[in-house]
Amino acid sequence: MVASRLGLASIKNGHMDTNIVEASETTSSGAAPDFETLRRDFPPLETDRVYLDTAFVGLMSRQVKAAHEAFLEERYRFGPIPPDKTILGVWMAKTEEVRGKAASFLGAKEKEIAFTYCTGCGSNIALKGIDWRRGDNAVIDDLEFSTDFHILNSLRERGVEMRIARSDNGAVSPDQFEALVDKRTRALCVTHVSHHNGFRHDLKKLTEIVHAHGGYLIVDGAQSVGAIKVNVKEEGVDFLSCIPYKWLNGPNGVGFLYVREDLIDSHPPDRLGWSSTDEFTSLETMESTPLPDHAKRFQYGTLSYEGIYALDAAFDYINRVGIEAIEKHNLNLVRMLRERLREREVQFYTPENNRSSILSFYTENEKALGSELKKKGINVTARRGKEGHIRVSPHFYNTEEDIEAFVEAYAGIKI
Ligand SMILES: Cc1ncc(COP(=O)(O)O)c(C=O)c1O
Repeated sequence: MVASRLGLASIKNGHMDTNIVEASETTSSGAAPDFETLRRDFPPLETDRVYLDTAFVGLMSRQVKAAHEAFLEERYRFGPIPPDKTILGVWMAKTEEVRGKAASFLGAKEKEIAFTYCTGCGSNIALKGIDWRRGDNAVIDDLEFSTDFHILNSLRERGVEMRIARSDNGAVSPDQFEALVDKRTRALCVTHVSHHNGFRHDLKKLTEIVHAHGGYLIVDGAQSVGAIKVNVKEEGVDFLSCIPYKWLNGPNGVGFLYVREDLIDSHPPDRLGWSSTDEFTSLETMESTPLPDHAKRFQYGTLSYEGIYALDAAFDYINRVGIEAIEKHNLNLVRMLRERLREREVQFYTPENNRSSILSFYTENEKALGSELKKKGINVTARRGKEGHIRVSPHFYNTEEDIEAFVEAYAGIKI
């Protein structure tokens, strides 16, 4: 079954229903997804382009685009709005619906999800809300995204020490963290799947290590959520921040943060605004407004509701395909890519037996190689990092033919 309905929003139950475009070949029945058919939902794949760069920016489905357009139409026409609601009320109601979807996607409760605008927004909330004392420390590794380094550098002024675990052959082991963590460790910060080389941390082990010393595990999920199954309860993490514009194939301008239920009440927001509270502040409550015991306390202002509408469609799309099926598909492609590149005797930056949707390998002249690949219609990331490397990041809309095309093009380039 190819997409059943296309077009702009319809009105359902008196208000705008943006969720009207169904994924081609839906799979909620448990049947294996037809990944070939799903490719039709992503117009860049209709051309000869081989897009293997979801770790940079994920492609957007026409369903997510339609949800953006539905919001814009509603905004532009200023309606239709049910008589008992304001337009803001409609957007806020949609936000609560999507909060439920974000929560179930991560295996969390609704009250544990705050909407943000980017991953770093959640990282700031998590790290700056800790009641740091001089002499405390935070542990991080060198495969971590740069945002947490900036935050921890700024905390140095408050006497907080940053301890860095150095990766070895593209990996950082739990033992390395164990050696750095002590009773003054308040936070262990990791990027679940590294943007450099896709190295995937074992979050459960890290949680056990940091909890044994009374600290928190703070996770950047930008490169894992949507690509592999993430369940915050099973992993036991304390904070997880992510964005949907990569592996969830969703919008820009919105992100979400998970905060473990029992930490919410004692974790002060690093910024405040009208929407930090449940009720609009009145003249009577202006001088004392309690913050709710809900992660909404971290949402201090008007959100990108366009992003919320589009995120709604992004969750529906990924849920219909199925995260387990996506993870399996992506791991197979990465495994195949590794085998094919091994025949070319490349040196891998990504450790063996790693289980993520990203594979990086070292190369000289990475920029020239990246440009040559682009000229052949192949998108990957070419980066210097510690050493020059190429990062390949297939998602569910990629095929074995894409992997073959990449390897063939790579083998044919002489630089
Ligand atoms: C691991 C990781 N975290 C975060 C981000 C983006 O951060 P933000 O959402 O704060 O812009 C990226 C973008 O490439 C990333 O790879």
